[in-house]
Amino acid sequence: MDAPVPRGFHELYGLHGRTALVTGASRGIGAAIARVLAQMGADVAVNHLDDAAAARVVVADIEALGRRAVALDVDVARRDVATALVAAAQQALGPLDVLVVNAARSIHATLEATIEEDIDAQVETNFKATVRLLNATLPAMAQRGFGRVVTIGSIVQEAPIPTLPVYGALKAAHHALVRGLAVRYAARGVTLNNVSPGLIRTERNAWRRAPGGDWDAFARSCSHAARAGEPDEVACAVAMFCAPGASFVTGENLFVAGGAQIAGRRDGEGTGAAD
Ligand SMILES: NC(=O)c1ccc[n+]([C@@H]2O[C@H](COP(=O)([O-])OP(=O)(O)OC[C@H]3O[C@@H](n4cnc5c(N)ncnc54)[C@H](OP(=O)(O)O)[C@@H]3O)[C@@H](O)[C@H]2O)c1
Repeated sequence: MDAPVPRGFHELYGLHGRTALVTGASRGIGAAIARVLAQMGADVAVNHLDDAAAARVVVADIEALGRRAVALDVDVARRDVATALVAAAQQALGPLDVLVVNAARSIHATLEATIEEDIDAQVETNFKATVRLLNATLPAMAQRGFGRVVTIGSIVQEAPIPTLPVYGALKAAHHALVRGLAVRYAARGVTLNNVSPGLIRTERNAWRRAPGGDWDAFARSCSHAARAGEPDEVACAVAMFCAPGASFVTGENLFVAGGAQIAGRRDGEGTGAAD
């Protein structure tokens, strides 16, 4: 039997009565995603690591919208926690309809300088945690006939940075994982997509804005928009994939990067000789 296709704007974009879990949601991109899902009507579990005060602010913002929210301080990199994290979210809010896998580690080093511990830390947080969270959520979503999963990638999966070889490879792996699972779950009402940000102004890159840092020049160089993006600009793309009306969109990767995924010079740039 064909699934009913939503029609009106609120049916297409509304998440009223739905529940979401966002990992790494106490600040930055994850916090923006948690807030926009709440604005769409969802109740939201706000996973985080260390910053309980920041998570409480996100929870309060969501509650101020009339939605329910809970902060869950769980290190997703730990092997035994995915099932417990999902269970805690469900106990507080009900069965999960939306999962956004956002928490990640990025450790800068060339491949030769990358130590074993840093490889492990990135593999555990950026990939194995994703697999475990998907395992803990997808079967129930499929059984209920509705699910929206978004993993967060990065521009470096397309435009590599020499000091992020492991991180870049793991971000590319997110998309491959999502594509494989999209095939399996497409007929069961569950979509999986990947959103890959370019440089976004968050605490992750605050060190570049410290006195003597290279933020302005770096941000200009990182996209055809000649600026860094804002967390809300990523959240907007995630919201689109999570919308009920996006029911025929699955296995995709969307760059939110000011065009940085496109090779080519900006307007007004050029060497002359090669033009
Ligand atoms: N910012 C960029 O330019 C950029 C570019 C491309 C891709 N991305 C991707 O976008 C995502 C979010 O990046 P961001 O810049 O918003 O990061 P961020 O500002 O560093 O925030 C990281 C968030 O993840 C949480 N977290 C970190 N490790 C965790 C763990 N092991 N378990 C649970 N929570 C954890 C932190 O919690 P606490 O606050 O409690 O520590 C915080 O809420 C990441 O996947 C990143 O790879 C970012």
